[in-house]
Amino acid sequence: MTRGLFVTRPAVLFVCLGNICRSPLAQAAFRREAERRGLDVEIDSAGTGAWHVGRPPDRRAQAVARRHGIDISGYRGRQVSAEDFRHFTHIVALDRENLADLKRLRPADGTAQLLLLLDTVEGRQGQAVADPYLGADSDFDITWSDAVAGAKGLADRIEGEASG
Ligand code: 4NP
Repeated sequence: MTRGLFVTRPAVLFVCLGNICRSPLAQAAFRREAERRGLDVEIDSAGTGAWHVGRPPDRRAQAVARRHGIDISGYRGRQVSAEDFRHFTHIVALDRENLADLKRLRPADGTAQLLLLLDTVEGRQGQAVADPYLGADSDFDITWSDAVAGAKGLADRIEGEASG
């Protein structure tokens, strides 16, 4: 894919370590942002690690999403695969370690654009969405607000790419 008009529908995969805290919240926030804008896009999330494959999101992630009117209880953890690099147009890392892992995992024929979520947010370039897993409930509020900011920045970027 070159810059300019999308020849395929955009497809975005959010990736964190466990796929139970940050990337499900990014998925939920971006789903809502895309719906608000009428942006037709496939959205999913995955983890670089396999510990939580098949599991629902962390109860604290479910709770913060629910407080913002979104039910993520049906999400299930999965691990990023080689096929993801061919299927998705954008694979979006939540932190720099996730991004480094993705660069290492990318197959030679991978076509997805790899990026850091907060690189799309003015003034937040290079920043990580901090891992809240070992934190307090309030850390999930920070995760949510970062996910919302990233969702807007990413939607702006994808709309910009689509219009050339
Ligand atoms: P996430 O958080 O990467 O935002 O889903 C984590 C969840 C689980 C673990 C680490 C981070 N873990 O080590 O099990």
